Amino acid sequence: MIRRLLNKPVLRAVLGLAVVAGLGGALAVVAGLIPIKASSGHWPVTAWFLHFTMRRSIATHSLGIEVPPLDDPGLVLKGAMHYDLGCRACHGSPGMVLPRIAQQMTPHPPALPSRIREMKPEEIFYVVKHGVKFTGMPAWPSRHRDDEVWAVVAFLRKLPDLDAAGYRRLVHGEPAVTAPIETLGGVPPTPQAAAQACARCHGRDDLSRSDAFPKLAGQRHEYLQNSLEAYARGERHSGIMGPIATALDAETIHELSRHYASLSSSSTLATGTENAAAIERGKAIAQHGIPVQRVPSCVDCHGPGAKRGKSAYPALAGQPADYLLLQLELFKKGHRGGSAYAHLMDPVATRLQPEQMRDVTLYFASLRPPTPVPRE
Ligand code: HEC
Ligand code: HEC
Ligand code: HEC
Repeated sequence: MIRRLLNKPVLRAVLGLAVVAGLGGALAVVAGLIPIKASSGHWPVTAWFLHFTMRRSIATHSLGIEVPPLDDPGLVLKGAMHYDLGCRACHGSPGMVLPRIAQQMTPHPPALPSRIREMKPEEIFYVVKHGVKFTGMPAWPSRHRDDEVWAVVAFLRKLPDLDAAGYRRLVHGEPAVTAPIETLGGVPPTPQAAAQACARCHGRDDLSRSDAFPKLAGQRHEYLQNSLEAYARGERHSGIMGPIATALDAETIHELSRHYASLSSSSTLATGTENAAAIERGKAIAQHGIPVQRVPSCVDCHGPGAKRGKSAYPALAGQPADYLLLQLELFKKGHRGGSAYAHLMDPVATRLQPEQMRDVTLYFASLRPPTPVPRE
């Protein structure tokens, strides 16, 4: 059959040309003739073709991705804070000229507001989670945290409506309380400089910035230190905290942990009675566990109370309920990771029902935050 086809003169000519073209191409590569310089950009037709390929691939691969609710202001804030740290250097922000160095990339990172308007949320999710090959657009730093990627999507959907002042208010707070986050780039910053950068999300000293972020004030020293080390090693999964912790040296991690452990939190407690019944149910779980489901009591390890466990076990009192609930859900799915003690939570989280998780986290959120323990 093949021999009969090869006997056809036209086919032979086509095949011959293909072989010559292939050999020519290989020769051009080996001789180093293919230009790879970014400075000349792409030919318009190449740029169009690559961009078209990217858009088609995103559209097809994002089919069937389910979009969660994206309007929670805490989610938007979490995404905004990460954007400022992880994306602005390439994509710019409202009121800022596109970054000069990133504009020398081929293809260069586009200004996002007009692009976002044309994209579906699941398409934005797909790009931010997976990045784009051959373009410099990075994948999300943690494979386990789709919830964080959705936070960025929630923010990006607001981006087209933000002007420079609106962006500044969102990212710096009102009034602007904190130092530029650039202190977290490259070289390990001093502990003081780093603490100012942490305040962008976690709040200054004893004050919490928002319920979107866990409180650090009064948390136990060993737990803080173990957590930062686990983020830096990628053993506690977060695309937001991972890169931040990686930029800190051991000394700074130690100092920051000591600093936050010595603060007492002055955040006001959430008041209101609408959750009173849930809090009561949560209190029972926290203090006695749920024997029929073999769930142990929480207070033995987490406090509050005299029995409060090792200093590597976190205090939960006064922590935002949404944050605690998210951590329990991550434990249950096996996506949280953590320090060498994290495995203690596996049996706990897998045995709790969703509404029991809600109740017990509302209970801990309703408690006064811990007062700092004298240096251990
Ligand atoms: C190192 C630079 C760089 C960083 C950091 C970066 N990007 Fe990109 N981004 C790019 C490039 C380059 C492209 C591809 C442009 C193209 O081919 O049209 C891109 C494409 C995108 C697109 C698709 C735009 C389109 O036209 O379809 C989105 C959305 C996006 N980036 C969002 C983000 C977000 C959110 C972050 C932070 C989590 C981020 N990028 C971080 C360089 C970067
Ligand atoms: C861009 C916002 C942002 C900045 C800046 C930031 N954090 Fe975080 N931090 C987060 C988020 C979001 C979480 C929750 C991550 C998770 O789900 O695991 C977190 C979690 C933590 C935790 C774990 C708390 C717990 O109860 O388990 C520690 C410790 C921490 N951060 C320390 C720091 C320190 C120290 C700095 C400054 C060097 C810092 N963070 C800067 C957003 C930020
Ligand atoms: C045997 C001890 C132990 C028991 C019992 C226990 N925990 Fe934990 N829990 C831990 C440890 C240790 C960690 C921190 C893991 C790490 O270092 O990453 C943790 C972490 C957590 C966190 C995340 C805190 C944060 O700041 O990120 C939540 C939420 C939590 N536990 C809830 C509970 C609840 C609710 C119960 C009771 C139903 C419970 N735990 C019972 C040991 C325990």
